[in-house]
Parts: sequence; structure tokens; C-alpha cells
Amino acid sequence: MKNRRLVLAARPEGLLVKQSDFKLEEVTLPPLKDGEFLIKVLYLSVAPVMKFYMQDGAGIEAPLEFGETMRGRGVGEVVESKNPGFQVGDIVQGKCGWQEYKICDGSPYHMMYKVKQRQAPVSTALGVLGMTGFTSYFGLYHIGEVKAGDKVLVSAATGGVGSNVGHLAKIKGAQAVGLASTDEKCRLLIEKLGYIGAINYKTENIGERIDHFFPEGINVYFDNVGGELLDIALSKLQRYSRVVICGRISQYEQSLHGSTYNLKNWYKIGATRSKMQGFFIYDFEEQFTKAETEMAQWVAEGKLAYQEDILEGLEQMPTALNRLFERKNKGKQLVKIANA
Ligand SMILES: NC(=O)c1ccc[n+]([C@@H]2O[C@H](COP(=O)([O-])OP(=O)(O)OC[C@H]3O[C@@H](n4cnc5c(N)ncnc54)[C@H](OP(=O)(O)O)[C@@H]3O)[C@@H](O)[C@H]2O)c1
Repeated sequence: MKNRRLVLAARPEGLLVKQSDFKLEEVTLPPLKDGEFLIKVLYLSVAPVMKFYMQDGAGIEAPLEFGETMRGRGVGEVVESKNPGFQVGDIVQGKCGWQEYKICDGSPYHMMYKVKQRQAPVSTALGVLGMTGFTSYFGLYHIGEVKAGDKVLVSAATGGVGSNVGHLAKIKGAQAVGLASTDEKCRLLIEKLGYIGAINYKTENIGERIDHFFPEGINVYFDNVGGELLDIALSKLQRYSRVVICGRISQYEQSLHGSTYNLKNWYKIGATRSKMQGFFIYDFEEQFTKAETEMAQWVAEGKLAYQEDILEGLEQMPTALNRLFERKNKGKQLVKIANA
């Protein structure tokens, strides 16, 4: 059987990747060995961290070598198996890489989980009911310690992670306002994604708009971007607030060169007796099943509406990755690779 895959051909320079940073290869798959199973990839996830797998590993893994298949999570169907733990027809999600088929030996490195619930489309196993949704859930509930009555501000609120936070806040009796770069994204936040308000951070006075929605300030800031937006949010903290450092997309490029934004309002953490904490989603691995079960229930009940942004075809992966940095994606960015 043939497999097509995208391998690293050059290290990206600048904010965006180029098609020529990748090489599309077609290879013949070897027969399965005992313990292995073959996955037909249905969807691939796209996340900002992937660009850094190509550059410096983002402090999580070693940078990719030239000729290595691009890393990334996918959801797929088991089409052949010599592993008793995985049957033909199982839907799984895990480290598939940017390719159409994946041979997996089930070892912990691949973090291959069976997808348990099947009422929602399989794509959700990479979005709201997968690592992206879990990041929203554990970020808001465990790091943000959100509670009824809290006022929550979220950056990149229409992004993969942010697009779940509005409803998750509402479910706990809190109110969320989202930051986004266009009026269209702002409308999406209010009309579909559970936010009580939205701020176009490109065209509006952010501080004034936060005061408009939350005159007494915020209790939780869920940060996906870092930089100036984080600084403004710090200036609006109430006492005993929680600042969730989830991501820093506005500063990724700068952090490669040691020139990140200098926060002016860091002292507000002390002045308001607040907490600011980062986290790594895999630290919550033992609780993923609980989160998936709860969130699948909320999706089924219509309490957690989700948003996906889907391109089609393996060749679209570099374009899809760039969309995150070009601020084009609305919801979780995915690429459909094949029909089930
Ligand atoms: N801690 C963890 O374990 C963990 C796990 C998963 C993800 N993350 C992080 O969480 C964040 C969200 O992940 P995601 O996959 O859902 O990505 P995402 O939010 O969909 O990322 C793309 C969005 O980021 C915003 N953005 C892009 N460039 C920006 C800039 N220069 N300044 C401000 N905003 C910018 C844009 O939204 P606007 O158009 O609205 O600006 C864009 O649509 C990422 O930083 C990711 O690395 C962390």
C-alpha cells in the first residue's frame, strides 16, 4: 500500500512557512509487524506549536530532522491490526504525523487513544472533544479556577482553544468576553460561542471596552497570545484573580530571538494578590476521560457549541498552519485527509 507524507525539507524563516519547507513523498508501506496496527488518517489537527517543531522543538521535543515526517495529531480509523488492543474499525486519535497512513505500535510515545463517544463527528476528537477542548477545560477550570459570577476575558477567543472557553465559562455561571481581530469573528463569539461580549482589539479601545463590559474588572484572564494584550488584561485584574498562561502566539517568533514584549503591568499581580500560572495539557492526561465524558454530554445537550475550520487534502497542511499566524482561522483549524 502507498502512503503520501510531508517531510521537513527546510527550516522556516520568518512568521510563515513556505511550501518548499516541505517535501511531499510517496512511499510503499512495509507489512505490519506483530504488535503494530495501520491507521487510515481522516483528519489532521493544526496547532501553532507545529511551526516550532520545525525550528526549535518549542521546548517540548527535539526539533525535527530533515526528511522526518512532520509531527502532529490526527484522528483515523484502524484498517489493519496485529495488535490485540486495537481492532479494525476502531477510531483512534494520537500522533499520526502529516501523512495519509500511520503504522503505530501502540507505545506511549504515540499517545494513541481510542475515541470513545461517537455521537459527534470524528473531527471533534481533535477539537472540542480532544486535546484542544481539554486545554480549554483544564485551563479554565483547574488553572483559572473559574466560579459562578466570575468575569472572564479571553484572547484569541475564536481560535481552537478560545472558541470553547465562552460556553465553558457560562456552564459554571461565569461571564466571558472575547478578544478577536475582526468584526466577523466578534459576531461569531456572541452569536454562537457563548460570549456575552466581544472586543475587536484591532479597531477598538481595549481598556475602555473591558470597562464597559466589566466595570469592576476581571477575575480570570485566559491568555492564548501574550504580549500587549496580556499587559492590558493585567491592568484590569480584580483582587485574587487568576491569569491562565495557555499560549503566546504573538510572541513565538520573538521568543526565538530573545526579543519578547516587556510587560509593564506585571506588578498588578502582587497589588491584586492574583495568581499567574502556565500549564502543559499532557500534565492532565489521567483526567482526559473525565473531561471528554463531561464535554461530550454538554455538546449532546447543546450547551457547548463548537466551531471548526476545515481545509481538505494533505497538500493544504502548510496553508492551514499559516492561517493561524495570519489570523484567518475561525475555530479549530483542521485538514480533512480522507473519508471514513
Ligand atoms: N498550554 C498547553 O498545553 C497548550 C495546549 C494547546 C494549545 N496551546 C496554546 O494555546 C493557544 C491557542 O491554540 P490554538 O491551537 O487554539 O490556536 P488558535 O487560537 O486557533 O491560534 C490562531 C489564532 O491566534 C490569534 N493570533 C495569531 N497571531 C496573533 C498575534 N500576533 N497577536 C494576537 N493574536 C494572534 C488569531 O486570532 P485573532 O484573529 O482573534 O487575533 C488566530 O486566529 C496557542 O498559543 C497554543 O500554542 C497551549
